[in-house]
Amino acid sequence: MIQNIKKRIFSGVQPSGNLHIGNFLGAIKQWVALQDEYDSIFSVVDYHAITVKYDPKILRKKIIEIAKIYIAGGIDYKKVIIFQQSDIRAHTELCWILNAVSARVSDLNKMTQFKDKAGEGNVNVGIGLYDYPVLMAADILLYNTDVVPVGDDQLQHVELARDLAKRFNHDYEKIFKIPEPKIMKQGARIMSLDNPEKKMSKSAESEFSRIGLLDEPELAIKKIMKATTDIGAKVKFNPKEKPGISNLLTIYSLLANIEIKKLEEKYANIMYGEFKKDLAETVAEFLNDFQKEYNKIDDKQIAEILTAGAKKAEPIAEETLMKVKRVIGVK
Ligand code: TYM
Repeated sequence: MIQNIKKRIFSGVQPSGNLHIGNFLGAIKQWVALQDEYDSIFSVVDYHAITVKYDPKILRKKIIEIAKIYIAGGIDYKKVIIFQQSDIRAHTELCWILNAVSARVSDLNKMTQFKDKAGEGNVNVGIGLYDYPVLMAADILLYNTDVVPVGDDQLQHVELARDLAKRFNHDYEKIFKIPEPKIMKQGARIMSLDNPEKKMSKSAESEFSRIGLLDEPELAIKKIMKATTDIGAKVKFNPKEKPGISNLLTIYSLLANIEIKKLEEKYANIMYGEFKKDLAETVAEFLNDFQKEYNKIDDKQIAEILTAGAKKAEPIAEETLMKVKRVIGVK
């Protein structure tokens, strides 16, 4: 028998808000680079997206949009599994079991993203938002995942998945593999354009804080030209002293595949304005190419890809869930 010796990666994006270059550079670009080396599963995690206010009609469209973005970004749907989280019931079922037997209120009280999203002391938010890291743990653990490639803001959630897996294995039987997070050295935390002290986010109010992957290239140029820079005039990478310019250098470096050092040399005696103009052109070119690919993909084909993906993913998830149900005593 030929054994599958590839390690497995699992990751996902929520179909909420507009995907931005932070999502691409911190997560999807990494998946593309790993998809040949790893047995890869990428989910459109729609049950995460309903933990905040949303419009059902828009959600339906966003689910398709995210899958299209995966493919336009370079994910090869013939090699990997792409599926919609809610198509596989095992996710919510394992989430419930972990809620009951492994997760503690004290674990979830530590989650910084919940505190940011709900606001400190705010109890008037859905339980789902609070419990969302447990659903994410279920996503990861169902597939015997070795590695979880994510941006820096998801690290704490992957650590929780590890903790829950260890606790469950200790309390029952060794069912779960302990997953490792994988964070890019560069690009794991792309910052907001109008406030480089904050990360670029889908939900920030200001459109000028992010470059959407589906933004008109002309609008993206305006956003880059308006981006906050720092005091001084030198194009130098120093996130503490020059967070704005350092963020722009990171984006430039990743989109153009040029080392930051080389960019610093190139722009050593050049003003911020010129640097931004060149970056804006690079961003516009990237968006043009990306959107050309995006527009080639037919929505109907996406529905088929997601259905086929769920068919392949479900038996893996079911097998893990069955083992879990046996050891907790319900089967
Ligand atoms: P989400 O949808 O918020 O973000 C998707 C991915 O994009 C990364 N990211 C960033 N990377 C760099 N710079 C930024 N400014 C930036 N903003 C976002 C995120 O780290 C993420 O990798 N809970 C997850 C989705 C999820 C998941 C999972 C991920 C659900 N289940 C299982 C991995 C495994 C989320 O909300 O990501």
